[in-house]
Amino acid sequence: MSSVSNLIDGRAIAEQIHQETAQRVAALKSRGCQPGLTFIRVGEDPASRVYVGMKEKACQRLGIASNTRVLPEKTSEADLLRLIHQLNQDPSVHGILVQAPLPSAIRASVVFSTVAPAKDVDGFHPVNVGKLMLGDPTGFVPCTPGGVQELLLRSNVPTDGAEVVVLGRGDIVGKPMTSILCQKGRGANSTVTLCHSRTRDVSGHCRRADVIIAAMGVAEFVKADMVKPGATVIDVGVNRVPCVTGKDGTKLVGDVDFAAVQPVAGRITPNPGGVGPMTIAMLMRNTVCAAEMAVA
Ligand code: GUN
Repeated sequence: MSSVSNLIDGRAIAEQIHQETAQRVAALKSRGCQPGLTFIRVGEDPASRVYVGMKEKACQRLGIASNTRVLPEKTSEADLLRLIHQLNQDPSVHGILVQAPLPSAIRASVVFSTVAPAKDVDGFHPVNVGKLMLGDPTGFVPCTPGGVQELLLRSNVPTDGAEVVVLGRGDIVGKPMTSILCQKGRGANSTVTLCHSRTRDVSGHCRRADVIIAAMGVAEFVKADMVKPGATVIDVGVNRVPCVTGKDGTKLVGDVDFAAVQPVAGRITPNPGGVGPMTIAMLMRNTVCAAEMAVA
């Protein structure tokens, strides 16, 4: 495989989705509805600040009204829940996103269950998790795994009958990714193996896979000898590692050893520029869906 032609360009595909979303925003506005998304950030986690900033910028570009509520690190769970209840009642707010991770004194499961399912554009509420598992299209699909499915679909990577290995069993990516790909339907119908820290012979599973989706949060875990020649490799990882030449002595790397794996893979996502932009595109799309449902 040549060195550049096998890249899956997440930025270009995210851009297509943004254009579709912008048209839907315009249609909503012509009906007198201004889509609105509120972010809640608790504390000053540097990565969360960057992520919320990028999401706000995408809202601005698409004409979605965004508002960010920043609460101090020491905020009580009760105060956070009160704010969510207020936003649940506010008709100008169509989507609510509570940025994870939350301080350890706050129970994330309680917080995510408090967001009204109809405004849960993250797809973390148990009702939306259940709808995803049941294949009910009226729920919200979490943005990162939804974005991976969209990348596969729009890059014509076959999933029907494909052996897919998902690495990592997190609630935000690994588990919903598995639910998405095992459903009946386009961009799914896969035979999915979910590998995690207790899996015996992860390499053996990976070597059989037509598609590997790496989301376990271990820097450069996927090596060339774990990939079947021609397989598709999707890197969801964002890991900060020490680097003497990097700014502030660190750099970001994915869960895939990109330089080693790219020559073996049939298709591969760059990182950055692969899954990241898709997460934002899917969030914008979910927000517009929420607004459309609110005015329907
Ligand atoms: N932290 C990392 N990914 C996500 C996400 O998709 N949504 C939220 N709310 N927090 C995150």
